[in-house]
Amino acid sequence: MKHYSVMLKEVIDNLNIKEDGVYVDATLGYAGHSQEILKRMKRGFLFAFDADELAMEHSAKALSEISSNFKIFHANFREMPKYITKKVDGIIFDLGFSSPQIDEANRGFSFMKDGPLDMRMNLEQKLTASDVVNNYSLNELVKIFFEYGEEKNSRLIAKKIVNVRQQKNITSTLELVKIIESAVGAKYFNLHHPERKIFQAIRIEVNQELESLKEVLPQAIDLLNKGGRICVITFHSLEDRIVKQIFKKYSEVDEIFKGMPQIPQDYQPKIKLINKKPLLPTSQELQENSRSKSAKLRIIERV
Ligand SMILES: C[S@@+](CC[C@H](N)C(=O)[O-])C[C@H]1O[C@@H](n2cnc3c(N)ncnc32)[C@H](O)[C@@H]1O
Repeated sequence: MKHYSVMLKEVIDNLNIKEDGVYVDATLGYAGHSQEILKRMKRGFLFAFDADELAMEHSAKALSEISSNFKIFHANFREMPKYITKKVDGIIFDLGFSSPQIDEANRGFSFMKDGPLDMRMNLEQKLTASDVVNNYSLNELVKIFFEYGEEKNSRLIAKKIVNVRQQKNITSTLELVKIIESAVGAKYFNLHHPERKIFQAIRIEVNQELESLKEVLPQAIDLLNKGGRICVITFHSLEDRIVKQIFKKYSEVDEIFKGMPQIPQDYQPKIKLINKKPLLPTSQELQENSRSKSAKLRIIERV
């Protein structure tokens, strides 16, 4: 099967790759972006992160066919400053999950295939989707379904889950889908697909996705050399809002210095926005790869 990397050309063009530069792929996956970066370097170096060990083996092999100038860390990208201690020329984040992760029913990410309620990106982690669904309080479930799923029937769905689990633990993905359907009724279910939103919410909670993103972006900005760039591809509005807000904050003069003729060096904006509005996939890419449908690419440069 052909492996598609979302907005590959746009990312590679915008990273301005230098032959002797140092780059970071924060979300290695199946190494589509990393391979293109490595191909464009001679004496440079690539650092890559993935929380999922299963992707790393495949990617290490693919990358070593191009060059040996890379190192892969099995770690969450929020730990980047622990591993990357010198400045770099570019960082790519292609957020969320890879198609192989979604396609593998055993990982529990898919609401279309039956599998265990797992959803862990990092299999060494303790918290699973089953813990969330079976142990979180009613109010905790309502909160994450509203916040991370933006599902208006969150309370109804959470109540149904709590009712069902009083009889027996909820163990499989399709069992959860059925519970969601019975909570909202077939008509609403078929029209609005709340299972997508609830699965998204649980996945974000299990993997602490939004916290990791909020934590890493300011650190990534600080890791950039002058002229270095960050490209971030997001797949839903919660992620995109975080990226937009953090990039806006660091690209503007601090409120207290606005309108002043002289701004001290330490208070100058750290970055400039390369695109005010996010770049979207071309219509050709949308045709070839449906996964790119909701993708948005934001790019900044360190000044
Ligand atoms: C969309 S895929 C990346 C695909 C890759 N760019 C390619 O072209 O093949 C996202 C990958 O990032 C990993 N990932 C997501 N969030 C992460 C995090 N906070 N830390 C480390 N890896 C993460 C996932 O395990 C997944 O393999």
